[in-house]
Amino acid sequence: MHLLPQTIILDAFTEQGFCVVDNALPRNLVKELKTLAIEREGKNGFKQAGTGKNAKISQIRGDKIAWLEPQDESPAVQGYLCLLEELKLAINRHLMMGLVDLETHLALYDVGQAYHTHIDQFASLNNVQTSSLTHTMKRTMSMIVYLNEDWQAQDGGELKLYLDEHLQCPTSDARATLIAPIAGRMVLFLSDRFWHEVLPAQKPRLSVTTWFRSRA
Ligand code: OGA
Ligand code: NI
Repeated sequence: MHLLPQTIILDAFTEQGFCVVDNALPRNLVKELKTLAIEREGKNGFKQAGTGKNAKISQIRGDKIAWLEPQDESPAVQGYLCLLEELKLAINRHLMMGLVDLETHLALYDVGQAYHTHIDQFASLNNVQTSSLTHTMKRTMSMIVYLNEDWQAQDGGELKLYLDEHLQCPTSDARATLIAPIAGRMVLFLSDRFWHEVLPAQKPRLSVTTWFRSRA
């Protein structure tokens, strides 16, 4: 199994709290994950994100998700989860972040769908989760890998990452960087530090999101 270029990633991350790495995954793994996503979509394996908990959520986020579970024996899932475990250990070793576990899902945004400005984990811990081990866990590191081959600038769908710290949701003119969702590109950022949003795209937009969690 090919490894992510871990030290490069972690050095960039240490400086700014986020990093963007192109060709972070081997091309065949990107292809396998994309194929897996298309298969799952064909079997109705994607569910509208967040419904059930909050009826209004579809106005906030328009993506559909499919979780990747450790008991899934498909080589793409096993290969990817294995790589994520290795990255988790490398992050702990180099950055002492105390990451305990991870959760990961495929995400599919149909044409025109978006995810409004949000933060993945509030610093005040009002969206912590209780795991099956009854430990309270918080999302510490967010990671997204994109699976969109032949993505053009005019296709849109950028991740807009707000660079400054904001106690409340920033307005759209706040300082931000736009990251196009091109195949093999990886973004890593601190979950409780960076507000972000997904801009609508002209083509379906596929990604894999992971949250590395630590004890709250
Ligand atoms: C998320 C998210 C960003 C992206 O899933 O919480 O913000 O670029 N995703 O897909
Ligand atoms: Ni997010």
